Amino acid sequence: MHSRSYIQDHKLSYQQSLANQLVTAVIILNEKLSIVYVNPAAEALLNKSLYRLFNTESEMIFANTSINRSRLIQLLATGQEFTDCDIVVELNESHRFTAEVTASSVEFERTPHVLLEFKQIDQQKQISLEVFQHQQWLAARDLIKGLAHEIKNPLGGLRGAAQLLSKEVTSEQQEYTSMIIEQADRLTNLVDRLLGPNQLPQMQAQNVHGILEKVCQLVGYSNGQKIHLLRDYDPSLPAVECDQEKLQQAVLNIVNNAIQAIDEKHNITLRTRIASNRTIHGKRIKLAIEISIIDNGPGIPTKIQDTLFYPMVSGRSNGTGLGLSISQTLINQHQGKLSCHSRPGHTEFTILLPLKQQPLNRAPLSQESTL
Ligand SMILES: Nc1ncnc2c1ncn2[C@@H]1O[C@H](COP(=O)(O)OP(=O)(O)OP(=O)(O)O)[C@@H](O)[C@H]1O
Ligand SMILES: [Mg+2]
Repeated sequence: MHSRSYIQDHKLSYQQSLANQLVTAVIILNEKLSIVYVNPAAEALLNKSLYRLFNTESEMIFANTSINRSRLIQLLATGQEFTDCDIVVELNESHRFTAEVTASSVEFERTPHVLLEFKQIDQQKQISLEVFQHQQWLAARDLIKGLAHEIKNPLGGLRGAAQLLSKEVTSEQQEYTSMIIEQADRLTNLVDRLLGPNQLPQMQAQNVHGILEKVCQLVGYSNGQKIHLLRDYDPSLPAVECDQEKLQQAVLNIVNNAIQAIDEKHNITLRTRIASNRTIHGKRIKLAIEISIIDNGPGIPTKIQDTLFYPMVSGRSNGTGLGLSISQTLINQHQGKLSCHSRPGHTEFTILLPLKQQPLNRAPLSQESTL
């Protein structure tokens, strides 16, 4: 027969090695919600050792997520465990992951602790989700296009008839015919935007910084001193095959949205980087140019985040909800990808443009990198 303390020690050593072997990342927080233990899987996930993480507050991991202090305190008090899906943990600019997190209460040395288990939403799942969302977007766009087409056909006839009629009626009655013409023009304009870009892109090797500078110039003319535009360019970016006007329009729509969402206290940053090993609609891309449009405004309303790129989805009372859908179409025409990540204080739209060949020579572009 083994003694009770022998079994207890034995059990502890099994538990310790079990935690070390788990593929699930596990973090334990004490009553003050500071980290007291992370297993090796969590060290790998957070890219830091237990030594560096010890005593770090939980907020460092869960900033801007639904797992806030008050919920964890409630968990300690009631023991009521919870699971939250799609928690985006953002440790720094380049280290972000999505996970399902289960929080439960465990007792160590007679005091309640929080046990956090992370199930990382793996890349494959993320890619399938992206592909699914892209297909949904294509279906919604085709439906709207079909409808827009049906509306457009009779509109021309309606306008023509009103024009003819205006020649037959008195000048007082012409007020009515011009109203028909005016409204028909307004509808045609809307329908044309619904139909989206209808010309094939004219691809040419372009300096993306030149295109971004043009956008800055355009928004500068229409908004004057009001906006703070910052540049964070990688001057060594190679030229990319793109249609200058289309790319400019795509970026302009995104920048205009940011301008509409922010005020003088906020700013917009245009960032360029070279990106490697990314997936675009399920396809692996070796090298791409990444253009990010970042603002520190209020963020995208949560209720439209999942359908943001669908046509006619708007969070503004006077918005038509077409800007981002058009940008999406334009970027897709470049075999690229437009994505967004937003929370209050940080909204980031990212355009990925694949580079056809690996540049042999990353000669600096003539454009100035910063202002
Ligand atoms: N940077 C941002 N910050 C906050 N909200 C944003 C931002 N960008 C987009 N949005 C939200 O996304 C919505 C959709 O944008 P989109 O450009 O597609 O349509 P819109 O701006 O409403 O109308 P349109 O561009 O057709 O005039 C916006 O209405 C706004 O609520
Ligand atoms: Mg817009």
